[in-house]
Amino acid sequence: MNERPVALITGASSGFGAVTAARFREHGFQVFGTRRAGGDGLLALDVDSDDSVRACIDALLREVGRIDVLVNNAGRAMVGACEETSATEARALFETNVFGVMRVTNAVLPSMRARGAGRIVNVGSVSGFVGVPFHGAYAASKHALAGYTEALRVELAPLGVRVALVEPSAHRTGIQMVRPRDTMPLYDEGRERVESIIRGQIETGDDPARVSDAILRAATEREPASRYRVGAKAVFAAVARRFLPMGAFERVLEHEFGPR
Ligand SMILES: NC(=O)c1ccc[n+]([C@@H]2O[C@H](COP(=O)([O-])OP(=O)(O)OC[C@H]3O[C@@H](n4cnc5c(N)ncnc54)[C@H](OP(=O)(O)O)[C@@H]3O)[C@@H](O)[C@H]2O)c1
Repeated sequence: MNERPVALITGASSGFGAVTAARFREHGFQVFGTRRAGGDGLLALDVDSDDSVRACIDALLREVGRIDVLVNNAGRAMVGACEETSATEARALFETNVFGVMRVTNAVLPSMRARGAGRIVNVGSVSGFVGVPFHGAYAASKHALAGYTEALRVELAPLGVRVALVEPSAHRTGIQMVRPRDTMPLYDEGRERVESIIRGQIETGDDPARVSDAILRAATEREPASRYRVGAKAVFAAVARRFLPMGAFERVLEHEFGPR
């Protein structure tokens, strides 16, 4: 029996997932990364699909017998005004960012509960506690993930499974931001402004290694915190959200994302 702890990291073909897989390997984990198409040493896993999730987790458990750490990292972003975003488009985003996490978690949990041990680290975002304008559907999905993770953590603590949420601000990855299909000229200026601000923040953002360090800490610390905010903007936003009156907080958002 291989005694190295086993980590399953979703969305490991690029960005945080790829860096985290390397970080966990350095730390002695046996790492299984995933991507939708599989290949390149990664397992095939589409978090949007019940069948894909079940097939991947069943095969992995047959092969290695256990999963010590699950990192729910796979996710997608979207930029567009709330009114431009159809319910169908928002649902597709939730399918990956929220229901995908629920699917993989539910598939992995029976094996963790059976051993009375395990860690689940969900990758949220600063958009999980800030409603960035023109990022409404993404913010809604990450807020939903934050609420789900909080409940999951409390439910699973007595069963020996520890849960944490990592909430980064912008970091240098190739994350794609899809736009709504039916954009409205009324929102062109705002959407393009916010998209270029966010793209700029990502291009000049912090090193994704900092996020992988936080994920590793959440996976290995004896008492994992409920939330790990990573990046100066995430830490600032958390403090501002907590201590500023709502009106003042909205002015911070306007200053950061409003017309120049
Ligand atoms: N970059 C940032 O600044 C930032 C900030 C805060 C939070 N985040 C969050 O961090 C996580 C990782 O993002 P990233 O920046 O590293 O982006 P990324 O480089 O685009 O990586 C996203 C990963 O998710 C996978 N993926 C996408 N849809 C999937 C699906 N339906 N099923 C399975 N895998 C899927 C992709 O794999 P394939 O396309 O190969 O399948 C890819 O490996 C996301 O949850 C994102 O919301 C990012």
